[in-house]
Amino acid sequence: MPFAVTQACINCKYTDCVEVCPMNCFVEGPNFLAINPDECIDCSICVPECPVGAIINAAEATPEQQADVDLNARLAADPRWQRISSRKAPQPDHAHWSTVADKRALLLQP
Ligand code: SF4
Ligand code: F3S
Repeated sequence: MPFAVTQACINCKYTDCVEVCPMNCFVEGPNFLAINPDECIDCSICVPECPVGAIINAAEATPEQQADVDLNARLAADPRWQRISSRKAPQPDHAHWSTVADKRALLLQP
């Protein structure tokens, strides 16, 4: 099973994760990243890089996190979501949003 970015990333988007991925399998939207499940090799290198612990092994997803796993697959197949492999500045209010748990409704599309 691939790894997946959960909703903890929304409105934070620290992008530390993309620098270490050997497969460059992250794609980017305005306030969230997703992992392409068809490219992820399950190395887990990205997991400890995320300051908010947003990346999970899809095989260990809770029923609530399964929505995020499905979302990663859907967004990775959307041509509007472009590949990202270099770190950039996080979202402006990342410190605030890092403390908010339920953010899925805030996801923005490109
Ligand atoms: Fe990339 Fe490895 Fe993370 Fe998959 S688990 S997204 S291959 S760093
Ligand atoms: Fe998101 Fe964490 Fe990467 S906040 S952009 S999954 S470092």
